[in-house]
Amino acid sequence: MPPTFMKILSIETSCDDTGITIMEVKGGTENASFKVLANNLSSQVKIHIPYGGVYPMLAKREHIKNLPILLEKSLKETKLNKKQKPVDLIAVTYGPGLEPALWTGITFAQELAKKWSAVGRSVIPIVPVNHMEGHILSVFGKSKPARNASLSDSGGGTFKIRKLKTPTLSLLVSGGHTQLVLSKKWMQYEIIGETVDDAVGEAFDKVARMLGLPYPGGPEISKLAEQARLEKKQGSEGLRSAAGARIEQFSSKKIVYPEKLGFSLSLPRPMLKSKDFNFSFSGLKTAVLYKIRDLKKAGHELTHELVTELAHEFENAAIECLTYKTAKAVENYKIKTLIVAGGVACNKHLRNEMKRIVRQDLTIREVNLLFPESELNTDNSLMIGIAGYLNYIKNKKKVPKPQSIKATGNLRL
Ligand code: KG4
Ligand code: ZN
Repeated sequence: MPPTFMKILSIETSCDDTGITIMEVKGGTENASFKVLANNLSSQVKIHIPYGGVYPMLAKREHIKNLPILLEKSLKETKLNKKQKPVDLIAVTYGPGLEPALWTGITFAQELAKKWSAVGRSVIPIVPVNHMEGHILSVFGKSKPARNASLSDSGGGTFKIRKLKTPTLSLLVSGGHTQLVLSKKWMQYEIIGETVDDAVGEAFDKVARMLGLPYPGGPEISKLAEQARLEKKQGSEGLRSAAGARIEQFSSKKIVYPEKLGFSLSLPRPMLKSKDFNFSFSGLKTAVLYKIRDLKKAGHELTHELVTELAHEFENAAIECLTYKTAKAVENYKIKTLIVAGGVACNKHLRNEMKRIVRQDLTIREVNLLFPESELNTDNSLMIGIAGYLNYIKNKKKVPKPQSIKATGNLRL
């Protein structure tokens, strides 16, 4: 029998965010309740800006530096005594992600488990967590402190695992992944579609770089696209129910181009009509590159106006590909719950479009659409704690020996 009440420490280091969360948890896999005691995240974004992307060895160095600082801060906030055994369980991301970065979290977890198991005279198990399962389960989390709303990074919030109607579909969109994950049953996963080349967040970042926008490019492109949308007050209504009509509607949605330009800035929607649930973003990225080249050839400078237009059209194209295939999968698999999570789920246009489609498309309007709290879309250790606890309860007898946990960069669900 699992203890009715335990403390769990979770660690996230798969990419460029270092996270440590401590929570108090009780209950089973379908009704667990969590209380956030401390939730601390340190972002390395500024350090990676000069490289225009995450530089793995630098990420590793930063994680090594940040982990003890965040642990100290978290223990202080929770007033737990590190000289005794402060937690009962440790959860750590072991993949997918950058292996040098993943190893820092795993090694840290192993050292802590060893130290605290010795002082507490009882073994502290380590649950290895798949980062992508964390993103799916982040939909339940609450990162905001319940007691002191002015503290942005320390927790006190409580939340519960709610029973979701199955089948569930998760659209996972981040800098490393673009996947459609089907769960016919709770905590069972099957990838039914994914990108065949670049992840959507990666495409946002690379296109931003081409347009001279800073890293990470997703929020920058999104800001400009919103600005363009506001200026044009462009409507995108009129969705119909059948899948065919949905394609027609999407494709006919044209943006207004600067008249003086003389040619269209329209971009392709790769694989929109393919019969599978896969995505492709590398061609879309290259199409932006060619537009920039053509513009320069025609003697146009890449003005703020043109950058805004390209950002707008790129965002429209990328989000159409995501929402169209997702809606098709919801219809095809008779999905009851749809989760949209990962860094790109911060994108306002994606959220609005997904909501609008669910509202207007008669064939999928019954689906329950869920997004995580915006702070939990990007990488965090709170979601790792949720996934870690639920997996511990589910597979308690199969928890691996701490020293056997290995970073697995290309881990799949
Ligand atoms: O999940 P995440 O924090 O890290 C990975 O696991 O990759 O996602 C980061 C990605 C970056 O590519 C970033 O540009 C993108 O999410 N992103 C966005 C937005 N905010 C973050 N992409 C589009 N629109 C946004 N508002
Ligand atoms: Zn992630």
